[in-house]
Amino acid sequence: MTGSAPVAGDPGRAPAVRAMFARIAPGYDRANDVMSLGIARLWRRLALRELGPSASGDVLDLCAGTMDFSGLLAPSARSLTALDFCAEMLEAGRHKAPAARVVCADAREMPFSAESFDAIVAGFGIRNVPEPERAVREAARVLRPGGVFVVVDFFRPTTWLARLMDRSYNRLVLPIVGRLVSGDAAAYQYLADSMGAWTDRAGFEYTCLDAGFASASGRDLFPPIASIVVARKS
Ligand SMILES: C[S@@+](CC[C@H](N)C(=O)[O-])C[C@H]1O[C@@H](n2cnc3c(N)ncnc32)[C@H](O)[C@@H]1O
Repeated sequence: MTGSAPVAGDPGRAPAVRAMFARIAPGYDRANDVMSLGIARLWRRLALRELGPSASGDVLDLCAGTMDFSGLLAPSARSLTALDFCAEMLEAGRHKAPAARVVCADAREMPFSAESFDAIVAGFGIRNVPEPERAVREAARVLRPGGVFVVVDFFRPTTWLARLMDRSYNRLVLPIVGRLVSGDAAAYQYLADSMGAWTDRAGFEYTCLDAGFASASGRDLFPPIASIVVARKS
C-alpha cells in the first residue's frame, strides 16, 4: 500500500499528515520497532523519567499516536488523556491503555480548560504539527503552574555526528526499510524529510520560552538523532 505524502514544512499539510498516519496506522508499531531497532522504546522510557512525580498526576499524552506513552503511563497516572487528530492511530493503540480518555483533536486547539494537567508528554509528534508554536502555547495553557512538558523528537541535526547519521540512516535507510516493512515509501520519506524541515533543539527550547514556559532545556539521546526537551511552567 502506498499513497501521496505531505510535503515537509508545508504550513497547510495537516490534512495530508492525518491521511498519511491513517494509512500507516495498522503497521506503525511494527515499522517503528524495526526501523529504530527497538531504541525508540528506550527513548520513551528516558523521556518519562523527566516527568518526575508529575507522572502520578493528571497526564496528557499529546500526539499520542498508537498510545505507547499512554501504555507506559497508565499504571502510575491519576488520570490519563491521549490526544491525537488521527482516529486510526488511536484505535490501533487503544488496547495499551484501555482506561485512558481518548480525545481525537488537533494539538493546535486542545479541547481542554486551562490548567487541566500536571504533565504533558509529546513523542515524535510536534514535528508534524504545522505552526508547532501554537501547539506549544496550548501545552502551556492547559498545564497547571509547576507542570512539566516533555518532548522527545528528531530535531534538525546540528552536530557533524548527528548530520552524518541523518544523511546515512534517515535519508537512505529509513525510506527503504519503511517501504519494505510498511509498503509505504512516500510516508517514510516524509518522516525523514520532516526532521530537516523544522527547527533544531535550541530553536524549540526558544519556542517553549516564547510560549510562556519559565524554563526549557534539552539534551541529545544516543544515537544523537533524537533529543529530549523539558519545559516547566512556573
Ligand atoms: C510519529 S507519530 C508518534 C506517535 C507516538 N507519540 C509515539 O511515540 O510513537 C506522530 C503522531 O502525531 C499526530 N499528529 C500530527 N499532527 C497533529 C496535530 N496537529 N494534532 C494532533 N495530532 C497530530 C499524528 O496523527 C501521529 O499519530
